[in-house]
Amino acid sequence: MRQSSLVVVANRLPIDDNAPPDGVCEWRRSPGGLVGALHDILAHTPATWVGWAGGAGPAPELPDIGRLRIHAVGLSEAELADYYEGFANSTLWPLYHDAVEQPVFDRSWWEAYQQANRRFADAAAEVAEPGAAVWVQDYHLQLVPAMLRERRPDLLIGFFLHVPFPPPELFMQLPRRTELLRGMLGADLVGFQRAQGAHNLAQLARRLLGAKATDRAIELDGRTVRTGAFPVSIDVAEMQSLAARPDVVRRARQIRADLGQPRHVLLSVDRLDYTKGIEHRLTAYSELLRDGDVKAPDTVLVQVAVPSRERVGHYRLLRDRIEREVGRINGEYGRVGGPAIHYLNQRFDRAELAALYLAADVLVVTPLRDGMNLVAKEYVAARTDGDGALVLSEFAGAAVELDEAFLVNPHDLDDLKATLLAAMDASAAERSARMAAMRRQVTRHDIRAFTRAYLRSLDDSGALAASVTG
Ligand code: G6P
Repeated sequence: MRQSSLVVVANRLPIDDNAPPDGVCEWRRSPGGLVGALHDILAHTPATWVGWAGGAGPAPELPDIGRLRIHAVGLSEAELADYYEGFANSTLWPLYHDAVEQPVFDRSWWEAYQQANRRFADAAAEVAEPGAAVWVQDYHLQLVPAMLRERRPDLLIGFFLHVPFPPPELFMQLPRRTELLRGMLGADLVGFQRAQGAHNLAQLARRLLGAKATDRAIELDGRTVRTGAFPVSIDVAEMQSLAARPDVVRRARQIRADLGQPRHVLLSVDRLDYTKGIEHRLTAYSELLRDGDVKAPDTVLVQVAVPSRERVGHYRLLRDRIEREVGRINGEYGRVGGPAIHYLNQRFDRAELAALYLAADVLVVTPLRDGMNLVAKEYVAARTDGDGALVLSEFAGAAVELDEAFLVNPHDLDDLKATLLAAMDASAAERSARMAAMRRQVTRHDIRAFTRAYLRSLDDSGALAASVTG
């Protein structure tokens, strides 16, 4: 077994599960933030990525990608149902997102969650060279840090949670709360998107474990676990260069023409997930149409809803509701050849996304709760022309950094409607001042800065961060 000095452990691998067997494999750009955020950097690093390749069954053999080794972990059909769709995505995901959907507590899922976490921990222990750093990602693998420490006390272990870490009132509902907490605290450094996450963890560590804890460090079992906020970001250079490509610029013009040269193009790009506030947004938009504040096709909304977790009940029901509502709105307010909403339940490649960003006057990002939201940052990075307006939920992690956006409380429909209108009506001078401030922030704090900050904090000699980000 080849071993690496840096191992990333995430539920998902960054490559397509349909990679052909002849070894030609393509990067999978997951619709979520995690993979998009890390994969570019690691392709140039002698590291190993441990993760699930998608699909059920034994782990496939996958070729290296650049200098990055891919180590697949297999999941059975039952584990997929109970660990991934069950405990991870029907218990933890809704609970960590303010319980905007009711979390399901099914006792039979816990065993599968533990078993899958053990499998990832075993794999990481196998591929990590002596003294290596292992960086464990996200809520699927919350038990891995402690499991790994037990197997390999020589390792430097980092954990990073991409989703919000909830306040004690919510976390305390979890039937296995103490084990989950102890699992994360097996790490040397626990990172969150926002400072609030570290604050919530400290409170929980005091309450559940009687630990001595501040927002920066937790003392447990004679060890110190450091904690902190590390807002994740995007590959700004990649998005900028996509947006500068002549074919992408042409495509953006074509999109506006295909939409009928509207005065205002509103765009939303989300995984089809109940945390993203798609239904609230549709209600607000439909009321604006009803009240005559906007008219189709003078104003159009392009809603990209990328298919996600389609076997989970909450997601199936949500899709039905959204599609019914889009049909209702178009039925009522569209005209022949001119719908009010252009709804796309598809995955798009990066160039098409960049073209959509360039074509949009207003990007509407209104999740009810979101760890970060990288779509907002991508839009800002793509707008090298300095134009475009961003409507952004206060409940997205990105709102901390992008406070020059048109910030909104998506639960407040009147606020949502007024903010959409304000963004559409903003003067060119206002749009460009806001965009310039946001571009400064995103450019300074890109994915390299995030990775460097996290890894420097994990290994304060700086050697680890330098080996990855140069
Ligand atoms: C979020 C999570 C990621 C996850 C992504 C896509 O961004 O934080 O860990 O990979 O959603 O979800 P999926 O279930 O398709 O991996």
